[in-house]
Amino acid sequence: MTDLWTSVKIGDSVLDNRLVMAPMTRSRALESGVPGPLMVNRANRPLEKLTIDLDNHVADLVSVGHYALANPDLVARLKNKIPLNKPNPDIIYVNNGAVGYTDYPTAD
Ligand SMILES: Cc1cc2nc3c(=O)[nH]c(=O)nc-3n(C[C@H](O)[C@H](O)[C@H](O)COP(=O)(O)O)c2cc1C
Repeated sequence: MTDLWTSVKIGDSVLDNRLVMAPMTRSRALESGVPGPLMVNRANRPLEKLTIDLDNHVADLVSVGHYALANPDLVARLKNKIPLNKPNPDIIYVNNGAVGYTDYPTAD
């Protein structure tokens, strides 16, 4: 099983782990045109399947959207097996100012 919590280099950037927020996943090729590390985004993927593409050597990184939005401390929660906040679909994709974007609580 590939460890989600290992570092990966993308171009000039070195990420601490292989979990990224979904909107960061749009490019693959490096400036040279050579494909770099591949991030796979699977909408509505159940949490227990988070590493399935790493495990099967399909992807180098994993992306999440809704869970990253609802959990400002997502990495700490996953590493420490702390239950996640559930994203509230009623306050995503609506113009409510900060509501639903910056007001989900951290675990501490
Ligand atoms: C708040 C929010 C905004 C998003 N905006 C876009 C967008 O502008 N364009 C797009 O292609 N995908 C957008 N997405 C979709 C994500 O990039 C991603 O495909 C999807 O959320 C992944 O599924 P998951 O949320 O179940 O992890 C957005 C997702 C969220 C949660």
